[in-house]
Amino acid sequence: MNSKTGNAMDVIRRRSSTRGYEPVPLTEAELEALLHAGLQAPTATNRQEIHFTVLKGDNPILGEIEEEKNRLRGLVSPEHNFYYEAPTVIVLSMESGFRWSGVDAGIAVENMALAAEALGLGSLIIGCIRDALLGDKKGYFSELLRLPENYEFAIAIAVGHKAVEKEPHTYDADARVTYL
Ligand SMILES: Cc1cc2nc3c(=O)[nH]c(=O)nc-3n(C[C@H](O)[C@H](O)[C@H](O)COP(=O)(O)O)c2cc1C
Repeated sequence: MNSKTGNAMDVIRRRSSTRGYEPVPLTEAELEALLHAGLQAPTATNRQEIHFTVLKGDNPILGEIEEEKNRLRGLVSPEHNFYYEAPTVIVLSMESGFRWSGVDAGIAVENMALAAEALGLGSLIIGCIRDALLGDKKGYFSELLRLPENYEFAIAIAVGHKAVEKEPHTYDADARVTYL
């Protein structure tokens, strides 16, 4: 344990989105721990239907997704790619038509984000590639990413060593919580 690790409440309090990474690959142990966090997440009826596709940051598939995202958004050479040059991106896909898949994917990805923080790493949950992966080229990208039959993109997460720090977001509990 170093000063950046801690119990669940510390990790929840500390986590924030990381939009800048050191060019340092994850170790096998780090990757395994992150995948464990995703795989260990609860799923409705214990269906365990969320699939995880691991890509290194230099995988050309990520470049193709970036290009399609930019094409759809009319963006020309944005300052960063969608994963902020992280060394690892994990795409979570879900079973089309299972009513709880979106919730299950959300739980899994947050488990991974918290695990990353607990390991002293940064992470970014990524939804901005949704239209690229579910649009005209859905079949093409699903094949490239080798998604299981009848699966589709749910969410992605970038993970790596933080090159930038950001304070956790603030919130207005009075406006958002009702006690009865
Ligand atoms: C479902 C979902 C999709 C997100 N997609 C993106 C994204 O595509 N790009 C990005 O930079 N941040 C993305 N984020 C991160 C949010 O912008 C971020 O969580 C929010 O601004 C709060 O900041 P914090 O994570 O630092 O607390 C996403 C977060 C969630 C939960």
